[in-house]
Amino acid sequence: MKRAPRKAAGIPAALPPEPDLAELSRLARRARRLAFAPFSRFKVGAALRTRTGEVVTGCNVENASYGLTLCAERVAVFKAVSEGMRRFDAIAVVADSKRLTPPCGPCRQILWEFCGDIWVHMSDLRGRTRTMRLAELLPFPFDRSNL
Ligand code: THU
Repeated sequence: MKRAPRKAAGIPAALPPEPDLAELSRLARRARRLAFAPFSRFKVGAALRTRTGEVVTGCNVENASYGLTLCAERVAVFKAVSEGMRRFDAIAVVADSKRLTPPCGPCRQILWEFCGDIWVHMSDLRGRTRTMRLAELLPFPFDRSNL
């Protein structure tokens, strides 16, 4: 069955108000403290917001078998989906690095699958921020509309 692509599926084109994103980023920063990253020492926090305003957080969880590591974004998405949440409009990602940390490639794909073209608000511990749509980070995506 052909379904419409999930791009911009009902998520307003206007940037969410800055206080909303700042609050989301504060929650991601708090989640980051719980990161289990003894191998890379690179801690990441994420906060995913549903369209009704609930927030689910995540942090990266590493494993001695490195490839089993889960990124903060995916932990947040899987927590939310496993709790029955299905409609999202923004995710905040926080890390402490010279350059802002965007979701990695696999996370972009997972975010697209479950969230469509959401807002991605990146920030660091110094308060630098950048907000992009997921479609900018993942142009020409593969999804169910291709099947
Ligand atoms: N990581 C995330 O949690 N999210 C990202 O967006 C980038 C990478 C984690 C995975 C790994 O635990 C560590 O950061 C270094 O790659």
